Parts: sequence; structure tokens; C-alpha cells
Amino acid sequence: MTELIWINGAISPLAGATIPVEERGFQFADGVYEVIRVYDGVTFTLAEHLDRLVQSAEGIRLALPMSLENLTEEIQSLIERSGLRDGMIYLQLTRGAAPRNHVIPKNPKPTLLFYVRQLPRPAHPAQTPGVKLITLEDERWKRCWIKTIALLPNVLAKTQAIEAGADEAVFVENGIITECSVSNLLAVINGKLITAPVGKKVLPGITRALLLDLAKSLNIRTEERPLTLTECQQADEIMITSTTREIGWVDQLDGKPIRRGGPGAIMLKLHEGYQARIRSVMSKRREIVNA
Ligand code: PDD
Repeated sequence: MTELIWINGAISPLAGATIPVEERGFQFADGVYEVIRVYDGVTFTLAEHLDRLVQSAEGIRLALPMSLENLTEEIQSLIERSGLRDGMIYLQLTRGAAPRNHVIPKNPKPTLLFYVRQLPRPAHPAQTPGVKLITLEDERWKRCWIKTIALLPNVLAKTQAIEAGADEAVFVENGIITECSVSNLLAVINGKLITAPVGKKVLPGITRALLLDLAKSLNIRTEERPLTLTECQQADEIMITSTTREIGWVDQLDGKPIRRGGPGAIMLKLHEGYQARIRSVMSKRREIVNA
């Protein structure tokens, strides 16, 4: 596998790739991004990710410099060229280089780039230790639905969690759980899967949406509403979701046990459903390639 990067149409090894110093992504975090999973050389939920990319870009007054169709083809072609099987695509759209000035330039030439990275497939949750969460005050802005590269609050929170011997930080605002530093949070209370609505404080996670959809097809009741910290402390199950992690089961919140002895029944059902969805996407893709 060769780590290759595509920058505005030019492909090169990731290791030697460069960006101008006055690229606004570098100076102002003026950009948005996506992380997309690749299983056995096939992208997973790519259309959903590109749709969110367009929404995020609109949120910062930026337009994609190429069609989604074309971009999809270029991504697939880079995966094949690099020989990636299991891994991810990191994709970033920034406003481009311009003499440093806070005001958005009139005719920016955006920088669109993406590169491939190998990543092992997550182990079965029953073989995975539970996730330890710590709560932190949500100090982020009110446009968390935009998947911006301005991630310092998330970077600081995640680091604080690791330094505290935990795995992930969960943001709390006025007693309400929003989301985690790099994942969404869902809780099971009385058999119902509950998660905060997306919007000002919650990214519309692709994995979160897929889980809600799977839950419906599995006859698991769902609800999107604000979740309090107190409710979470007493939840039957808590799970966190992200493209790279898939679904993680939580065993501790602020050092207090949520579950002992392994993932809960609903988490396991959703995990099976998720894996089935991956298999179905991969086999459909193979049918197209072999047709
Ligand atoms: N992060 N919330 C935040 C703040 C995130 O950074 C992420 C993902 C999610 C989950 O979204 P999705 O299911 O679409 O991956 C929620 C990615 C993986 C990252 O920054 O690496």
C-alpha cells in the first residue's frame, strides 16, 4: 500500500506533499473536512459523507470546486492506485491561499485534498474493552453541525481525557450531554435508544444516523431529544459512534460504572446490523465491478 494524496487533481506521495504558508486552512482553520471508511477497497457511506461536506462547506460560504460525481470517481481511483484495502480517506476543503486577511477573499481558489490511510477493522465489541468517558464543560461554538477543521477545543478535550486515564471526553452544557470530542453519544434507557438532536452543539454523525436507521429496522424504539447527564449516569447502556471507531460500548462515566462485563444487548444487535450493512455495501460493489 502506498500512501498517496490528491491535491486539486495532482497525485503524489503523502510524505512529500506541501501546502503554501498562506493557505487559509493553515492560518485561520478556514475549512471543513470528512473522514470516510474504506472496507476491502470499497468506500462506506461515501454519498452521505459528501452530502455533509457540501452542507459544511455552505456553512462557511464555500463551494466544492468540482462535481460530486467527479469527486467520487477520483476518490475511488486513488483507493485503487494506492492499493488500500481497509482504511480511511481523510478529505479536506479549505479556502485556499491568499495574502493574510481575516476578510474572506472575493475569488478564492479552494484547496481540495484527500489521502488514504490504512486502518485495522475494529474487533468484535465483546473482545473490546469498554470505553471510559469523562465529562467536560462544552466550550465550543454554536455551529457544531459544521465539520470544521477548527478542532482545538476537541483536541484539548480528547487530550485531557487520555491524561485522565479515560478514552474520550463527553461535552456537557447546563447539565445536558451534547456529544463527545470525536464521536456522538447514544444512550439506552428503558429499552429506548436516545440521542441528542443534531444542530448547534451536535455534528450530524453519519454513524449516528445509520444506527438510528438500523434501530428502526430492528424494532428498537428511538428518540432524538436532549439527554441529561443524570439520565446518562443511570442509563442501561451508553455507546459512542464514529466512522473510524464504528460503535464503542461505554463501561465508565467519570469513573462510575455504567456496565460491567461487556457490551449490552442493544449495542450488540446494532453492531450485527452495522456489520451486515458493511457486507451488503461490499457485495453490491463487487457485483458492479464484475458486471
Ligand atoms: N470524527 N462528533 C464529532 C465532534 C466528531 O469529530 C465525529 C467524527 C463524530 C462522528 O461522526 P461520523 O459518525 O460521521 O464519523 C461526531 C472523525 C471520525 C474525526 O475527526 O476523525
